[in-house]
Amino acid sequence: MESKIGKCKAFSSEREKRRYIPHLAEFFFRPDSDWSKPEAQRLYENASHGLDALKIDHVYYEDCISGMSRIPDETINLIVADPPFGIDFDGKSSVYNRDETLVVENYKEVHESYDEFTRSWAKQVERILKPDGSVYIFSGWTNLESVLRAVREASLHTLNHIVWHYNFGVFTKRRFVTSHYHILLLVKDSKNYFFNKVEHYPKDVWIVRRKYRFGEAKNGTKLPLDVVAKCIDYSSKPGDLVLDPFMGNGTTAVACKANFRHFIGFEINKELRRIIELELDRVQIGESYQPYGERLPSAQELASQHPRAYQEYIRLKSNPGSAFDSHTSIPTKTSGDENE
Ligand SMILES: C[S@@+](CC[C@H](N)C(=O)[O-])C[C@H]1O[C@@H](n2cnc3c(N)ncnc32)[C@H](O)[C@@H]1O
Repeated sequence: MESKIGKCKAFSSEREKRRYIPHLAEFFFRPDSDWSKPEAQRLYENASHGLDALKIDHVYYEDCISGMSRIPDETINLIVADPPFGIDFDGKSSVYNRDETLVVENYKEVHESYDEFTRSWAKQVERILKPDGSVYIFSGWTNLESVLRAVREASLHTLNHIVWHYNFGVFTKRRFVTSHYHILLLVKDSKNYFFNKVEHYPKDVWIVRRKYRFGEAKNGTKLPLDVVAKCIDYSSKPGDLVLDPFMGNGTTAVACKANFRHFIGFEINKELRRIIELELDRVQIGESYQPYGERLPSAQELASQHPRAYQEYIRLKSNPGSAFDSHTSIPTKTSGDENE
């Protein structure tokens, strides 16, 4: 029979093995799903999406509400929607510090009720989304209430309320400079949705600077490619079909083409056609695709930031009989994970 002292020793050495070491789990993290470049290309080339009436990898220059009504139910894997702001924006005001001659005309604002407009497109979005699909909606704070109401009415579930912090806030005298957008991550079924955790600790505050593109014509509201690519990375697989109802400059189309995703989009302003076509011509299929595992920091890179965790990582790795065999059994402690 094991003595009391023996039991105690075994217990404390087990506790020793399981104790929480900040950042240790980062050394063992692997993305949930990953594809080599040839695998991603094969998925892209072999994908079929049952959209007989509409072309894929194509932008339609028309109103998205009537456009989406031609898409069959539950056909789209991911929707990225960056609707007009509803604040009489034309991108030209001097407060935006831009060369007006480079801002493409006919930015289409919402002149009817913003509530009604949002309700109509959100309803279509819910209908055409696959059961395990996701939606990212961009919104400034001024119309956020409208968007939240419309997605609730459309029975979409909120998974996250992401804040994108940007670097182009407009100068103010008597209030804080607005320097963030809200990005809602919504799903149809909160128990069954695709989410590929490609980083160990993906926070809901995204700090992405917009690159200034001097001397190039554009619609004044272009999103950074990195922001849209992030939505695509986490919520779609290579070969999936991504829809953008408000294409603008074609950022979603470009991010898809460069990352082995198919796209379909709508844009009411026909003057943006030449910009979208130019942007798409500049990019090769799959040119930005990199397997997620290859994007992670190496153990050596992490070691300089977290030397204590690195020591433990080396100890555990060199001891095959230790208390873990994959990243899933590493003791971790991250605030906010309680809701998972
Ligand atoms: C905020 S911008 C989108 C910018 C885009 N995300 C980008 O990165 O370039 C909104 C776009 O929606 C377009 N738009 C407005 N109403 C629309 C409608 N009913 N159907 C389709 N497009 C519309 C506007 O012309 C504008 O280009």
